[in-house]
Amino acid sequence: VFEHILQASEDPILGVTVAYNKDPSPVKLNLGVGAYRTEEGKPLVLNVVRRAEQMLVNDKSRVKEYLPIVGLADFNKLSAKLILGADSPAIQENRVTTVQCLSGTGSLKIGAEFLYRHYNQHTILIPKPTWGNHARIFALSGIAVTSYRYYDPATRGLNFEGLLEDLGSAPSGAIVLLHACAHNPTGVDPTPQQWEKIRQLMRSKALLPFFDSAYQGFASGNLDTDAHSVRIFVADGGECLVAQSYAKNMGLYGERVGALSIVCRTPDVAGRVESQLKLVIRPMYSNPPIHGASIVARILKDSTMYQEWTVELKAMADRIISMRQKLFDALRNKGTPGDWSHIIKQIGMFTFTGLNRNQVSFMTEEYHIYMTSDGRISMAGLSSKTVPHLADAIHAAVTR
Ligand code: LMR
Repeated sequence: VFEHILQASEDPILGVTVAYNKDPSPVKLNLGVGAYRTEEGKPLVLNVVRRAEQMLVNDKSRVKEYLPIVGLADFNKLSAKLILGADSPAIQENRVTTVQCLSGTGSLKIGAEFLYRHYNQHTILIPKPTWGNHARIFALSGIAVTSYRYYDPATRGLNFEGLLEDLGSAPSGAIVLLHACAHNPTGVDPTPQQWEKIRQLMRSKALLPFFDSAYQGFASGNLDTDAHSVRIFVADGGECLVAQSYAKNMGLYGERVGALSIVCRTPDVAGRVESQLKLVIRPMYSNPPIHGASIVARILKDSTMYQEWTVELKAMADRIISMRQKLFDALRNKGTPGDWSHIIKQIGMFTFTGLNRNQVSFMTEEYHIYMTSDGRISMAGLSSKTVPHLADAIHAAVTR
């Protein structure tokens, strides 16, 4: 009965790791998936996370009971506070419902399923380009996916005019996917002034903002600064959805811990929204896992641990910034043709290099450097030791 099934191709991002794992070369380098590595090229578990885990292990009163459908109450409250701000009027007025979900992807998915069932406009605009998984998450929930202009290859910056034009001609009420900060894959974010214009335009057309916040703390190194875009939308009193992930900023990739917050106009509506979110979640996976959310809750509620986390987070962000400078300097010193200043201007985990598909294949075949075919490199996977190898490969790719 399954003979007709065709072999599917690997995921454009996670498939890069599959190919990398098969390569026996000792100089191979995985700059595909956005996952932080140390200077030694090793995955990092934050000290504060280790400490929180130890506390959980030592706490003999802890049991492994099911969480409620919406997840760990403390985690949800603290997650909303982290993204919306401790003084958020929406939180104070009880207009926010937050549910614990399976990292960023799971949060987006629960949001998509909820919108399909309870929101009258089944169109979403996503930026062009965007994270490879966005379109499928929404399309498979029955939401029509179109795009808005975002990146300008000529300037390697934001196509702000194009963005405004496309949002301006979107159907009234359409959902708009926005990257809260550190846009993936381009590393290009609107300025605060541009965010304000986007907000005004979207509110004037009743477009519904759905933020993907996967890099809070990674763009500027400051958790509040990186939440600015979300907070201006919440401050105006209108509705808004936010998907949060703790994969990158707490290094909890495999724990799959995230949250979906829906900001409503009244507490009564928020309560009803939550009741419907439960009906989305229950048939999908019943209730979320307890371990990762307990780690996050421990860290967020203890001011010393929170402080320790921000220091470790800033250190990761700073190491990435120093890699940007090192790669830029290496290319300049080699006289590699082209203006590579976007490497130091773009923010977050990725550099959108401008290398084309052929150049990327060449770098993989000849230099064993693995990256997504759109030319995105994860700066978090780079170290001082591996920068020269990458610079050699880029130089060879653009001069051949
Ligand atoms: C990425 O873009 O590399 C990350 O968000 C990981 C993923 O799941 O794609």
